[in-house]
Amino acid sequence: MARVVIENLVKTYPEKNGPGVTAVKGINLTVEDREFMVLVGPSGCGKSTTLRMIAGLEDITSGKISIDTKVVNNVLPKDRDIAMVFQNYALYPHMTVYDNMAFGLKLRKFPKADIDKRVREAAQMLGLDELLERRPKALSGGQRQRVAVGRAIVRRPKVFLFDEPLSNLDAKMRVSTRTDISKLHARLGATMIYVTHDQVEAMTMGDRICVMKDGNIMQVDEPLDLYNHPENMFVAGFIGSPPMNFFKGTLKRESGKVVFVETNAKAAPFKVELTDDLAAKGSSFIDKPIVLGIRPEDAQDTLTLSSPNPAHTIEVNVEVSEPMGAETYLYLDTGVHSFIARVRATDRFDVGQKVQITLTMDKAHLFDPKTEKVLK
Ligand SMILES: Nc1ncnc2c1ncn2[C@@H]1O[C@H](COP(=O)(O)OP(=O)(O)OP(=O)(O)O)[C@@H](O)[C@H]1O
Ligand SMILES: [Mg+2]
Repeated sequence: MARVVIENLVKTYPEKNGPGVTAVKGINLTVEDREFMVLVGPSGCGKSTTLRMIAGLEDITSGKISIDTKVVNNVLPKDRDIAMVFQNYALYPHMTVYDNMAFGLKLRKFPKADIDKRVREAAQMLGLDELLERRPKALSGGQRQRVAVGRAIVRRPKVFLFDEPLSNLDAKMRVSTRTDISKLHARLGATMIYVTHDQVEAMTMGDRICVMKDGNIMQVDEPLDLYNHPENMFVAGFIGSPPMNFFKGTLKRESGKVVFVETNAKAAPFKVELTDDLAAKGSSFIDKPIVLGIRPEDAQDTLTLSSPNPAHTIEVNVEVSEPMGAETYLYLDTGVHSFIARVRATDRFDVGQKVQITLTMDKAHLFDPKTEKVLK
């Protein structure tokens, strides 16, 4: 069993002539036994600091970290039964793969036979059995990374911590190593906390994802819940690529319906009708400023739809057309808002051309522009 509970965790780094930098601002998070939790967020949001505090490599300013009900605030890193894999894993260059993996166990005075068994088992799990006698410089980046993971596995810790372990690998290697780590998680049944700023990694690997910003947690949820039900504009914009489109506007009541009217002083503002469900969510915002959020896949070329709803259709200009192969990203402009639609790869568009776009309004979100929270 290894359940990690973080309560009101704060980290302030002292500054010479100032109040200090508060990198983590009182976060609460529970990572369940055997869970794969991903911490994701932009650079500087406090991911590594949080992980280092769990590992015991960084002092806690205030708050509490427990592993299986035992508070570990004052437990030394080596006694926490945690293994951490860093981005810049340093393998010993003069040692073989075998010795690199065995080193930690030797230090801990494990019997030789035990060490051998664990190293060979880990090597087999990671596809390194053929490489045990090589030195690190004779390995590819991905293989070295796997040795670093192997070094953690042989210790059989209660909790694995990963800090951007794949960021030094090329795109293809990232994808395959990503899958390896996911398989490993299934096989070891261990609790893992994985830091990345790559939202694709977060979506594909996490049982749950914790989105951080400026030392705070913005939302913790399963990947698809995060995608489909973001709590705020930050999560909506961070998870998903290309990101969710946002439009500023006002809600108006028109002949029994609620419509979103774009704020647009330059061109004719567009209007779209809200579904009854969305109108109910926005009922206290009639005649007030609001933000409409639409994902790129929910903005479709009207001509390709069998029965487009005219009340959900807007006319906009094509700025750029980016063919991605399987689909095309259309960069569009309403006059004041630029946004992206994911359309069929077979459709052709000219820059400057006018195009009709139909919004899938039952997938749209409304946000309070002041709090940036989603309306529910
Ligand atoms: N030793 C330190 N002294 C002072 N400030 C620090 C120290 N380490 C980190 N910080 C600051 O704390 C904040 C959080 O840093 P942290 O390394 O946790 O970010 P991160 O989310 O891991 O970012 P990245 O994605 O770039 O690795 C940053 O503003 C950083 O500048
Ligand atoms: Mg970091």
